[in-house]
Formats: sequence, structure tokens, C-alpha cells
Amino acid sequence: MKFFVDTAEIEPIRDLAATGLLDGVTTNPSLIAKSGRDFMEVTREICGIVDGPVSAEVVALDHATMMKEAEVLRKIADNVCIKVPLTVDGLKTCKALTGEGTMVNVTLCFSANQALLAAKAGASFISPFVGRHDDNGFDGMDLIEDIRLIYDNYGFETEILVASVRHTMHVLQAAKIGADVMTAPPKVIHDLFKHVLTDKGIEGFMADWAKTGQTILK
Ligand code: E4P
Repeated sequence: MKFFVDTAEIEPIRDLAATGLLDGVTTNPSLIAKSGRDFMEVTREICGIVDGPVSAEVVALDHATMMKEAEVLRKIADNVCIKVPLTVDGLKTCKALTGEGTMVNVTLCFSANQALLAAKAGASFISPFVGRHDDNGFDGMDLIEDIRLIYDNYGFETEILVASVRHTMHVLQAAKIGADVMTAPPKVIHDLFKHVLTDKGIEGFMADWAKTGQTILK
């Protein structure tokens, strides 16, 4: 499963990129606002840190203006992935852009039927928002299972990008279902490294090693 980080903050992106485990980045208008940075400038900077897809979202609601915005955004770097909302105009834009060879991430997906439409529109990625789904009394992971089944039934190549990830169990469940990608805030990715027995094990080994009085580096 590919790991994307869901943020527009540069330092956490650099930090995770240095682990070698980061495959891409997702941003959205709320994350750009939170960063306090200029959209174009911060997107360019992020594209220089990671080689994989960097999602940059259009903010227009009509197809013609979405296309104009996408034209500006895709010039930022070769790894920009244009993010469009799951609307009629968004999918028209998706179809046109993927037809020209531009990566498209269709966002704000909350049903398997919406995911089916995005795949038919040639989306590179579909972003079902599992956390927001859970928040509203639905099971986000049921949605991922349904999309996986439908995409496998028809051999759609659209990658399932599990979004709105809130905790490590979302990552585990998404991996068990066979989602292609997950995008999570930096904290959730860091939480994946943690286990109390790993910490306890290191503590025990360090204590015993100290008793030997030895060093590896002379
Ligand atoms: C995905 O691309 C979105 O940016 C993101 O995952 C939304 O997450 P949220 O529900 O925590 O805002």
C-alpha cells in the first residue's frame, strides 16, 4: 500500500520523506489555509520534496473554470495530480484531464456508486473519506470494501486512495481490504511506528548492554 501524507506543512513532509516511506502528498483548500502559505508556492515546494503525486485541488465549481485552474496547477511540476470534487463538472474535468495524460484525484467520495462514476471517468485516484463517513454514523471501511469489490469486478485501474484517515486502525483495515493508497496526517503515520513492547524491548536491551561495559564504535 502506498503512503501519502495529508498536509501542506513542509517540515512534516521533509521529515517523512527522509524515512523513504512516503509515496505522495495530498492537500486540500483547508490544509492550504491552515499552512498560511501561498498555494502555488507551497505546492511547488512540496513537489520538489517528493517524487510521487502531489494533489492540488481546483476551487472552481464549473467545468470550464476547473479546466483553466488545472492548466495553471499542472504547470507547477510533472508530479502534480489535479484534485477535483465528485460532481458532474468535476468528473467532466477528470475525463478531459486524464485523456490528456494528467493525473486526477477525485475527492469527496462518500458512496460506492460515486466511486464507480469516477472510475468510468478515468480517475487516477478515488478518495473515499472514511473518517467523515464514520463521523456521520456510517462505516467508512464498508465503503472501501464495496469499492474494492466493484473495481476488481470490472478491472478498473483507478487507485483507491483511503482519505480522512483518523487513526492507525484505519490504516490497518485499509491494508487488509487491499486499498491501493492511504493518506493520513503526519501524526497517524508516526503512530504506525509505535508499540509499547518495542519501547520496553529497547529499554531492556540497553540496560543489559550497559552491564557489559562494551562499545561497538571504538
Ligand atoms: C484527502 O485528500 C483529504 O485532504 C483529507 O483526507 C480530508 O480529511 P479530513 O476529513 O480529516 O479533513
